[in-house]
Amino acid sequence: MSLAASHMDRMYRHQRHIYDASRKFYLLGRDGLIRQLQPPNDGTVLEIGCGTARNLILAARAYPAARFYGVDVSGEMLATARKSILAEGLEDRVIVAQGDAANVDPNVLFGVGRFDRVFISYALSMIPPWREALDRALDLVAPRGSLHVVDFGDFTALPQWFGKGMKTWLGVFSVTPRTDFENELMGLAGRRGMRARVVRRFRGYAIHAVAVASGPSDGDWPNDPATGFREYSPFVAPSDRAGASLHRAAYR
Ligand SMILES: C[S@@+](CC[C@H](N)C(=O)[O-])C[C@H]1O[C@@H](n2cnc3c(N)ncnc32)[C@H](O)[C@@H]1O
Repeated sequence: MSLAASHMDRMYRHQRHIYDASRKFYLLGRDGLIRQLQPPNDGTVLEIGCGTARNLILAARAYPAARFYGVDVSGEMLATARKSILAEGLEDRVIVAQGDAANVDPNVLFGVGRFDRVFISYALSMIPPWREALDRALDLVAPRGSLHVVDFGDFTALPQWFGKGMKTWLGVFSVTPRTDFENELMGLAGRRGMRARVVRRFRGYAIHAVAVASGPSDGDWPNDPATGFREYSPFVAPSDRAGASLHRAAYR
């Protein structure tokens, strides 16, 4: 077993039983990300660092025509994930497997090489080689697909005492907000000709990012990507204004 796997197993062996109930109060922005995914019909969606499969299950309910895959390094978290997927009767559409985000090969795990949507929710802040994990995630986005990330921000627009306290408390759980995330994403996405945007949410508590890939032949790729992309994939419910502006921004 890898060091990352045994570290995460130790962390989550007991916590996994109260994980979903406790995390809803502070892993903010996950539901907005799910609303934004809007995979195409029969599309494929991969979550890297899927934990208990909380997000995969909600997404599978929201998008009944898509297929969902999840990867996590922790066998303990995956045991809970599998139990929940079975309890929901989603085992035909939601498959999870053990893998390390930095070098995951979904072709080996699932027989699927690239995905219409890839997302990472509050996992990069727990992965020491997070740049490699981000690089790998971008490699797994299919032509005209997208990568979505939500994670802790830098807390800068919140009171200083709060940001300091949060960082100390998160450290206890081996969580480090990736303050250089935006630069890294822009560089990695740019090298692939992908367009990316990062938005700070909840006064800097969280970041929400999207990177969008164009297709190999963009003959039908819209001239006006802002409206065109939304036609191709009407990402967001009108009520999710932050999500909508994020998508407009991703095309500027
Ligand atoms: C804070 S939890 C988030 C779980 C889920 N994405 C959510 O939003 O509820 C972080 C997850 O990342 C996983 N993880 C940590 N390091 C990883 C790695 N190197 N590769 C894959 N998963 C990893 C942990 O096992 C854990 O399940």
